[in-house]
Amino acid sequence: MDTCSTDSRYGARAHDLGRLNDPVLVCGGAYSNLDALRALLEAAGALSIPAERIIHTGDVIAYCASPAETAELLRASRIHAIQGNVEQSLSASEPDCHCGFAAESVCGKLSAQWFAYADARIGDELRQWMGRLPHHLTFEMAGVYARVVHGSVSQINRFLFASHPESAFEAEFAATDADMILAGHSGIPFTRRVGARVWHNSGALGLPANDATPRVWFSVLSPEEEGVHIEHHVLDYDYEKAREKMLKAGLCRDYAETLRTGLWPSLDVLPRPERKQTGAPLDLRSPALVRS
Ligand SMILES: [Fe+2]
Repeated sequence: MDTCSTDSRYGARAHDLGRLNDPVLVCGGAYSNLDALRALLEAAGALSIPAERIIHTGDVIAYCASPAETAELLRASRIHAIQGNVEQSLSASEPDCHCGFAAESVCGKLSAQWFAYADARIGDELRQWMGRLPHHLTFEMAGVYARVVHGSVSQINRFLFASHPESAFEAEFAATDADMILAGHSGIPFTRRVGARVWHNSGALGLPANDATPRVWFSVLSPEEEGVHIEHHVLDYDYEKAREKMLKAGLCRDYAETLRTGLWPSLDVLPRPERKQTGAPLDLRSPALVRS
């Protein structure tokens, strides 16, 4: 089964991947970081995971120096991609990224620069491709029903972090039949149990996770007899090369340094617990199980 339909409950265009019987790699937030996306494809090859079993949860374009090249590589690789808020804004020729940053926040002001840089480098063909991408993906693995979204089920640019109250996740699950939701947008990887269900964010490829390391993150989902195993993975790549490209392009020095230091230039979007975790290397080595 491999179908596309509009899900009237959320006005979202959902594409169904059917039943998946082999491991799937989940990643997101390539953020115009061509070097990180290339490294991800190499890592997938080393894990014997082909492109048709890779899912990108949106925002292929953002902070870094190679917006068109990164989007072209994602498109050419035939990875399953959904729209993030950036794809949605660029395909509709909107004036800003609709990231959900407050207008006067540091993130809001800095986003104007990288969005204008990307907007000037994306041609019509890529905009049309981004406009055709589905908003959600659905699939079934080992009896577990999954929905892939960008921010949340109800809102493409909603920030949800591990520390948010259970009720915030329950409200999102209430709008779906999913046992597992795979989301992006927030940039910090986590796996959160919500009753018998699981919310999973694989983190971002294009920027580190504010944990004082240059590592970036992806995940592998594997079908097992009792359900789906979720495993977070770190990705090492040539961040110095990506940083040099940003500096050469005249992009924000603060974000260029983030690629090296692993620390975000602004914590505006983070809840207090995630702010307090700043600079503490993430330890996500224990796999989680979503029971069917
Ligand atoms: Fe986003």
